[in-house]
Amino acid sequence: MEKILILDFGSQTTALIGRRVREMGVYAEVIPGDSELTDAALEGVRGIILGGSPESVYGKGAKVSPRIYECGLPLLGICYGLHRITADLGGIVAPLAKREFGAVEVRMNQKPAIGLKKPVMHVLPFFTRFLRREERPLWNLVTGQKSFDSFTAWMSHGDTVVTLAPGFVEAAKSATGYPAIVFHTEKPWFGVQFHPEVSHCEHGNDLLAGFVLGVCECSQSWNMGRYLELAQKKLKEAAAERDVLLLISGGVDSTVTAALLLKTLPPEHIYLMYIDTGLMRQGETEEVKDMLTRLGARHLSIVDAEADFLGALAGLTKPEEKRKVIGDLFITVQEREVAKLTLADNYFLAQGTLYTDLIESGKGVGAKAHLIKTHHNVGSPLVDAKRKAGLLLEPLDCLYKDEVREAGRLLGLTEDVVMRHPFPGPGLAVRVLGEVTKEKCAILRAADKIFIDELKRRASPEQKTLYSEIWQAFAVLLPLRSVGVAGDGRQYGYVLSLRAVTSSDGMTADVYPFEAKDILEISTAITNAVPEIGRVCYDVSSKPPATIEWE
Ligand code: XMP
Repeated sequence: MEKILILDFGSQTTALIGRRVREMGVYAEVIPGDSELTDAALEGVRGIILGGSPESVYGKGAKVSPRIYECGLPLLGICYGLHRITADLGGIVAPLAKREFGAVEVRMNQKPAIGLKKPVMHVLPFFTRFLRREERPLWNLVTGQKSFDSFTAWMSHGDTVVTLAPGFVEAAKSATGYPAIVFHTEKPWFGVQFHPEVSHCEHGNDLLAGFVLGVCECSQSWNMGRYLELAQKKLKEAAAERDVLLLISGGVDSTVTAALLLKTLPPEHIYLMYIDTGLMRQGETEEVKDMLTRLGARHLSIVDAEADFLGALAGLTKPEEKRKVIGDLFITVQEREVAKLTLADNYFLAQGTLYTDLIESGKGVGAKAHLIKTHHNVGSPLVDAKRKAGLLLEPLDCLYKDEVREAGRLLGLTEDVVMRHPFPGPGLAVRVLGEVTKEKCAILRAADKIFIDELKRRASPEQKTLYSEIWQAFAVLLPLRSVGVAGDGRQYGYVLSLRAVTSSDGMTADVYPFEAKDILEISTAITNAVPEIGRVCYDVSSKPPATIEWE
């Protein structure tokens, strides 16, 4: 498959480069920067992008396989990537007196940077895409036309190129006087000091598109249907007639994985297990059961482990203690229940690991073996053993969250399922603050259901449901009671806090700005229907400084 390879050196924005390339309809894969570039790794590769890094080329920064300079493929170095290319090819990189961070003006060199014929051969395809379009920023970038003297780029660097490597010329400088865009005069090699993948970088997408579509001449043929075809082919080759076990959480990722497995492999070999910890949302277990049955599941174990979990949580009030007990118990229950299944010895374990689960740490996918989905199965001995034995299937591990949703739609899952808000592994235990009891879980579940149903019923000014406008919404039961009046008497009810945030990935989040009418009516609906709740608050803290969950 035609693709762009992205070498990851640990920058937080490297994942975004992949995102941007895929948005162009080109498949992109992020691999550790120091990966060996074997023939297999280079199969289908049309170009290589070297990403940024918190490290220095003269410090602990990773080296690259020398093959990138021999394979003849187009290269684009971004920040550290540019430093890497410069240092490797005989230029000089040095620390800046003061780190440059944020918006920095980049000024085009006034004289056309191209004085030779050969570079034009290489640089031209870089821009041809844009010559056909109205805006021609990249053409202007290199020719230094007046219409495009400068633009605002986004930088984050402590080092700079001080001497270009032989064969490179400078096309633009930062306002602070350092090379901002360089290219090789004979080879299709480019470097930028700024981060075109960051949305605040003017013309950043054009620049990436110029490289991917212009220089590398990728065909924009990648789409989810194609991804699923390949994933299905791989699954069939790996696990054709073998048993596969998948632990289902009820979330989008594991549900899409289940749908994919059931549509690809013989259903009699697919074993699905869902552990009901007693900390699930209202009606969740029944919904999961119905949905998986509709998808054709033949072996579906719904494990009722409420007593195990609530028993273990009794008396615990500290958030970290609660999380640890749940994580450990999850493993115990999982082992106990898996042992009851009649699985063949060498069965596969499937997981709904996403691409971001693997790269979010900023360590790159090189650490893949150590990075397991931050879910119930963190550090699970079963996952570790299966990974070691090469019996782990992670068919979504190249996808981002919204791509998984699209995959779910193509696999026939309903909008309700694919657009579900995220739900944390420890479930309601982190939303019943302090000690978790069956009674408190029931109160919270009832209130949460009303909140969510109201969000699904109400429309935003844009005529979308509030639920679909919000990234994640839920109720939190506080370990507090307050005085109220119910009828003629005084009531001493629980305080409930509502949380609703917008976000793109959960790493940062903004408070959803409800219309006053909506939040007031939702509050009334809750206190009318759940007598144990006497007061409702709305959490107006963004992340940071708060987190999305309360515990
Ligand atoms: P925080 O609270 O850290 O949450 O801002 C960010 C996102 O992660 C979810 N979350 C979890 N998901 N296991 C999970 O699978 C967990 O232990 C966990 N804790 C938080 C949270 O719901 C939000 O979407």
